[in-house]
This record gives sequence, structure tokens and C-alpha cells, in this order.
Amino acid sequence: SGGARPRLAFLGTGYLGATYAICFAELGYEVLGFDVDEAKIAKLAGGAVPFHEPGLDELLRRNLAAGRLRFTTSYKETADFADVHFICVGTPQRADGMGADLVYVEAAVTGLAQHLTRKALIVGKSTVPVGTAEWIEQLVGKHAPADLGVEVAWSPEFLQEGFAVEDVLRPNRIVIGVKTEWANAMLYAAHKGVFDLAATEDREVPLVVTDFATAELVKVAANAFLATKISFINAMAEVCEVAGGDVTQLARAIGYDPRIGNRFLQAGVGFGGGCLPKDIRAFQARAQELGAGEALRFLHEVDLINLRRRTRVLTLAAELLDRRSGPAGPDLSGTRIAVLGATFKPNSDDVRDAPSLAVAGLLAKAGADVRVYDPEGMENARIAQPDLTYEPSMADAVRGADLVCVLTEWADFRNADPNAIGELVAARRVIDGRNCLDASLWTHAGWEYRGMGRPERT
Ligand code: UGA
Repeated sequence: SGGARPRLAFLGTGYLGATYAICFAELGYEVLGFDVDEAKIAKLAGGAVPFHEPGLDELLRRNLAAGRLRFTTSYKETADFADVHFICVGTPQRADGMGADLVYVEAAVTGLAQHLTRKALIVGKSTVPVGTAEWIEQLVGKHAPADLGVEVAWSPEFLQEGFAVEDVLRPNRIVIGVKTEWANAMLYAAHKGVFDLAATEDREVPLVVTDFATAELVKVAANAFLATKISFINAMAEVCEVAGGDVTQLARAIGYDPRIGNRFLQAGVGFGGGCLPKDIRAFQARAQELGAGEALRFLHEVDLINLRRRTRVLTLAAELLDRRSGPAGPDLSGTRIAVLGATFKPNSDDVRDAPSLAVAGLLAKAGADVRVYDPEGMENARIAQPDLTYEPSMADAVRGADLVCVLTEWADFRNADPNAIGELVAARRVIDGRNCLDASLWTHAGWEYRGMGRPERT
């Protein structure tokens, strides 16, 4: 593919940084991954990915062996090594729940800047409030030797867990926010591997070159749109529930309009994960600070619609189990409920803000004896919600249950045989929290079936 390629460093080897570091080594770049966490670095250097992401382990080992990929805990080594430094550290939700906490970004940028001995480009990638790139520029000005002319740029990422390798190697766009031609050229060179790969596959990767603020906003705007799309269809589910409609058919019908599109129109227990819920809250908080709070007020509704889906499962459970609701909500004591799914989506072990676990918590709080099973998320779920009861298999979770709730659409659950499961339960009642089961198959097998935003079937 020719031409001098810059050497790349990724600071912060969490989900984002590690995936990028490994995939860019795979594209042929010389790459260094940096983290302050020695255990994480030792693991990666030893060829083990510390989280679950399909295909990544193999790429890690291949590129370690090829000598293109190394890991370090030294800022100095990182500063000496790379021409382009991507900041990929976490930006957790602040203690007040609304803004993003930039302590890790600050630590990474200052730690690196102090050790730089030649001109380099520092590129922000973490999800941050708009204005952060300007702030980083000031930080760099304060901490990097002044004569080097170190520059800053912004390049958001759009990884989806479970598809992260593809999303890095074959992105549907690359967005860069720059102030100078030098930064533009450097960042282009840092992505040349992606463009070259696309060319060999007869594809094109659109490139959007813009200013700092726009590049930062692209990321949160995209996530806000996706969250809104999901809450839109969940709002339609609420209306279907009272009007007697079927939201799955409604979604299919509107989705055929290419202006709407059929993706992210799956009604269910709503969105979770480490990004969408946190991002829409931080985005609102930032807009408020900037004086545009009104513009994003609808995101508050998006959040509320999303959270209402969780209580909807509780209400449905009470209905199915014939339990009355008091002022404190329904009393489910004496019932046994199997919760299938703990992760926020299938093919992931991530339980952050998972609707499934939240619903399991609500059911348990209402007095039910809740038994949770998830194919990949058990370890993380136990840490996040230690008070729940976990079962080692789907069969163990459903055995003796008065109600089965499918809350994450794992293939194991979608393909489960309703007759076989029926043999194990105390009563054939199922809530399909993701509308992922074949409703007629389950009703034919004698199950009382309830979907989300779908008419009753018995
Ligand atoms: C999301 C975005 O999709 C990525 O583009 C973005 O890069 C990423 O956040 C990020 O900010 O890092 P991710 O959190 O991995 O990616 O998960 P999604 O696949 O977007 O799913 C989010 C949630 O929405 C899941 O709980 C999923 O079950 C739910 N969802 C999704 C629905 O309820 N209905 C749908 O139709 C689609």
C-alpha cells in the first residue's frame, strides 16, 4: 500500500482502545497500546483480550507475533514511539449522573504531553462533551514543550459491541475534526490503511473533514438519533398496547419506507449498555450548560419512554400471574420467575445499564423468587447485582417457574423449544421482552404469551 505510515499509539486499552490498537496493527500499522492498568497491559501483551469481542483474540495474537503490536504502561515510551496518539480512555458518568467525567482524559493527555520530544498529533476519540477538544488543546499547550508545535484533532468512533472488529476495519464513515492541513494530512495517513482495504474490496469509505465542535457532536448526535429511534418505536408499542395493535407489524410496515429504514425499530424492554443511556443524559446536560437545553428536552422523554418499558414488564408479570397492584406496585411474593438474559444485548458480556437486569431487580423487589441465566454475562451480572439468584443453565433457571421472561434476544433463547421448556416449568407463561420468539409456536405449545406492544395471545 506504499508511503510512509505514521506510528500509532492508543492511550487507554479498554474496549475502545484495545479494539482500535489491535485492528490498526492488523491493517499494517506499527502500534503501541498504553494503559495505566498493569494487569490489563500484561494480559494484552500475553495475548488475551480482557473482554468479550468476537474475532479479536485471534487478531491480537497474530499481530503480537508479527511484532507490529506492543503494549506499555510507560508514558515516556508512548511519547517516544508514536506520531499519532489516540486518546481512548473512559469518560464515565459523573457522580451527579448528568455530565461526563474527564479525569482520565486529563490524566492521559498531561501524562503524554510532558514526555513528548517531537511534533506529534493528539487525537481525541472517547465520547466527550462538545468543547473538550479545545480544552485538550489548552492542556497540551500547558504541558507539552512549547517549541514542538504539538497539535490536537478529533475523530469519533462508532463501534457496536459484537461488531467492533468490522466497525474498525470497515467503517461506514470516518469523521475528523482538524484545524490545520498538517493535522488533516497526518490523520489521513493514520487512516490510509482503512481506505486502502476498502479500495481492494471495491468499496468507498466516506470521509468527513470538519471542525472540532462538529466532530465531537457527530458522535453524540448519532447516538441520540439511535436512542430516539428505539424510543419512538417503544412509544408506538405503548400506543399499540392500549389500541390493540401489533408494533412488530407496524415497525415492519413503516420500515419499508427507505426514509425511515427498518433498523433500530425493534420494540422491547428498551436500550441499555455503556453508551446510549449515558450519552443522551450527558448530551442534555452539555446543551443545558451551553444555553440550548430546550433543543434537547425531547431526549428526556426518550429516556423516560425507555425506562417505562422496564416497568411494563413488571405490570405484565402481575397481570399474567393474576396479582393485584397496591400503591407500592404489584406484590409478586410466592411466585417464581425465570429471567433469561442479563446482558444489554446478545453476543456481549456487558451488563452495564442492562434493561434485563434492571427488570430482574424490579421483579425481585416486588417479592418474586427470580432466577437469572445468561450465556455470557453471568460473571459481570453477579458483580453488578449480587443480590439476585443466578442459575448455571437455561434449564435450571426455568425449572419450577410460574413465568418465564426472555429479556435479551440470545439465539439460545430464540431457538429454544417451547415444548421442552414447558416440561420444566410450573406453568406455561412467557413474557417476550424482545419480541424475539415465534409467538404462534409458543401459543401452540400451550403457553400464555405476552410480547411488548403486541395483542394478547392465549
Ligand atoms: C451504540 C451505537 O450503536 C454505536 O454506534 C456506538 O458507537 C456505541 O453505542 C458507542 O457509543 O460506543 P452499542 O452500545 O454497542 O452501540 O449497542 P447497540 O447495538 O446500539 O444497542 C444499544 C441498545 O439498544 C441495546 O440494549 C439494544 O438491545 C437496544 N436496541 C437496539 C433496541 O432495543 N432496539 C433496537 O431496535 C436496537
